[in-house]
Amino acid sequence: MYSSIIEKLKNAKKIVFVTGAGISQESGIPTFRGKDGLWRNYDAMKLATIEAFYENPNLVWEWYNERRNNIFSSEPNLGHKAIVEMEKFFEVIVLTQNIDGLHQRAGSSQVLELHGSIVKIKCTVCNYREVIYTKFSKIPPLCPCGNILRPDVVWFGEALPQNVWKKAIIHSMDCNVMIIAGTSLVVSPANTLPIYAKQNNATLIEINPDETIMTDDMDLSIRSTSSVALPKLVSVLNKNLGGRGS
Ligand code: OAD
Repeated sequence: MYSSIIEKLKNAKKIVFVTGAGISQESGIPTFRGKDGLWRNYDAMKLATIEAFYENPNLVWEWYNERRNNIFSSEPNLGHKAIVEMEKFFEVIVLTQNIDGLHQRAGSSQVLELHGSIVKIKCTVCNYREVIYTKFSKIPPLCPCGNILRPDVVWFGEALPQNVWKKAIIHSMDCNVMIIAGTSLVVSPANTLPIYAKQNNATLIEINPDETIMTDDMDLSIRSTSSVALPKLVSVLNKNLGGRGS
């Protein structure tokens, strides 16, 4: 398995990672649709839409406050760290659906957050934006203009930040290999990125303990968790492409 991956990687210059909740699962952050997934216990339509927020901002903020707590007490795992190590061999771009910031905390140098960030908040009315690394003691937090602040994340029915999305498409169309780790690939438009990569004949590799709806489109699938598969991949790269690393 890993030897056929090396075959695909040895001439690669640029690798794009598309990541989702599964890559942070081993850091103690729950996924959305897995066994203990958040959307199995909570109604997404009551917590992650602008309509739900206007209906009950306190409920939504309580939930995000809990997620902030969980994320702030989590650490990057071996999967996040292995992606950083791959920068020794390739240009590595991380396109993540996660809002937890763990790729950046691990040290990845080029990360695009497709769905926003847990540390960012913005006003529902004016252009005020802020970055806050603590839990809110008073909810809902208010803007200096007096209106309610909201998490600066992408909710269901909302568009991705267009500047980020355009860059994500360009990177996907320009990579030799796309590694898709820890995402069910059911959420659009992030799940169209492998199609853009394929248009440029990139090799698609999936890392996921379970099959996804796009498994049949993959060139290779590794049925394992990301904190096991990615360090193994790095160790095989070290053995085979060691001379290329700095
Ligand atoms: P999902 O919860 O839909 O999928 C997580 C995937 O990770 C599943 O395919 C699991 O099999 C896999 N997985 C679980 N543990 C893993 C591990 N240790 N290593 C590798 N893979 C593992 O999460 P996402 O695909 O990220 O959006 O969900 C996409 C979007 O849907 C999220 O960004 C969020 C959610 O609703 C919004 O809130 C807008």
